[in-house]
Amino acid sequence: MNEPVFVMDDVCKSFRSGSDELSVLRNVTLQAFPGESVAITGASGCGKSTLLNVLGGLDRVDHGRILCQGYSVDSLSERELTHYRRSVVGFVFQFHHLLKDFTALENVMLPMVMAGKGKKEAASSALEALERVHVAERASHYPAQLSGGERQRTALARALVNDPDLILADEPTGNLDEGHKDLVADLLFQLTADTGKTLVLVTHAPDLAQRASRSLALREGHLVEA
Ligand SMILES: Nc1ncnc2c1ncn2[C@@H]1O[C@H](COP(=O)(O)OP(=O)(O)OP(=O)(O)O)[C@@H](O)[C@H]1O
Ligand SMILES: [Mg+2]
Repeated sequence: MNEPVFVMDDVCKSFRSGSDELSVLRNVTLQAFPGESVAITGASGCGKSTLLNVLGGLDRVDHGRILCQGYSVDSLSERELTHYRRSVVGFVFQFHHLLKDFTALENVMLPMVMAGKGKKEAASSALEALERVHVAERASHYPAQLSGGERQRTALARALVNDPDLILADEPTGNLDEGHKDLVADLLFQLTADTGKTLVLVTHAPDLAQRASRSLALREGHLVEA
């Protein structure tokens, strides 16, 4: 039997604004295995991004445990969290967040350079990653010279270049027109499944959620079957 890639156990997360406390995640428990994709849907503001953020080590839980590939994510120091994010997790967001003064190739090289890889190795891995998302011919273009779909595929290449075990995608097709939506979604599912990665996908689109191996909804802080 495979080990789960991550286990979230009894996770709680609240936000305080003034004297009010907003309880966003209430005893959330979730685990996923290699090659599995889990879709999470739910109303705007219900806590989907918060769930991805705590799982990806971008934010901290108030209570509960998160274990992922040997990391106790809930209790890491800032330094260890940075290492966890760089080596285990690939993020894809609704907006591409590419750096405008860097070419597509340089943007995809960045995670590798940050992880201490040499420039030559980073460039060749980045080019391979761009080939997998069919943007290699645009490698020397700046983000402003790419179409919306090409930008988002470049962002996908950047998320995959370090070969992370866990891909966290937050509305990855939310900002694209219909034609590009399908292409990016196809690549996301294909590239994660082919390499046995685990995908947690937040989306408002029911057709996208249905393509995942499991589809869950976040309601009033709890995960339920969608
Ligand atoms: N840093 C923060 N400080 C205070 N409140 C926050 C913070 N981050 C999120 N929230 C609140 O927590 C709730 C959940 O936010 P979250 O971004 O997780 O929702 P979401 O489900 O991703 O929504 P959407 O579908 O609109 O992206 C919202 O009410 C939001 O206003
Ligand atoms: Mg969100």
